[in-house]
Amino acid sequence: MFITLEGPEGSGKSTQIKRLAKRLEEMGYSVITTREPGGTPIGDQIRQVLVRMENKELHPRTEILLFLAARAQLVEQVIKPALQDGKIILCDRYGDSTLAYQGYGHGLDLEQLRRMLDFATDHLQPDLTILLDLDVKTGLMRKKAEDEWNRLDDYEALFHERVRDGYLQLAREEPERWRIVDASQTIDSVQEDLFRIILDALENQKMTDQPIKRIG
Ligand code: TYD
Repeated sequence: MFITLEGPEGSGKSTQIKRLAKRLEEMGYSVITTREPGGTPIGDQIRQVLVRMENKELHPRTEILLFLAARAQLVEQVIKPALQDGKIILCDRYGDSTLAYQGYGHGLDLEQLRRMLDFATDHLQPDLTILLDLDVKTGLMRKKAEDEWNRLDDYEALFHERVRDGYLQLAREEPERWRIVDASQTIDSVQEDLFRIILDALENQKMTDQPIKRIG
């Protein structure tokens, strides 16, 4: 089963994924965790280009192609082989991040982005996508921790509002794939919500589809 976690910065995705993997492994499932952009040696090199502060001339189209290039590599090198082995893949961000950030956030054409995503992922869609939904101010405050709110943060907040609304729109369009969790709760409560959603999905898959591999 291919599961992706989506949401804004500060929503706690990476902390939650680590805990989820540990609990599922304790139950005997074989689990792989990965993150975007990155997740493979080539993808990690691409990530460096994306995050390096001095790469200020990076054009938005170049940026998208780099996100997609890292994702294509991840699909072929990690996700497809793991699915073949019947493992659970927990991925921190995937194609919906491109639609939310580059599409809704930066205003690039959604239909064109979808076609590019299909090419990059070889049409591989997650079985389940969980949105860790959080209001923008809380997310940015968490990220900046002790800093005061300033003018630039207001500007940044408008972008993140569009990203959040975009995520909620994507979830509305495909309710069978998406679940939404309130990420303003405590870490433990968010974890319980996520765990319950994933157990439900595994239970459903067991009844309808091929079995997920258990080790030991
Ligand atoms: P990262 O440091 O991994 O942040 P986080 O912990 O929030 O996931 O950086 C990922 C950043 O890249 C984040 O701001 C979202 C953005 N992003 C896109 O804009 N498009 C994409 O397709 C992906 C995968 C990420």
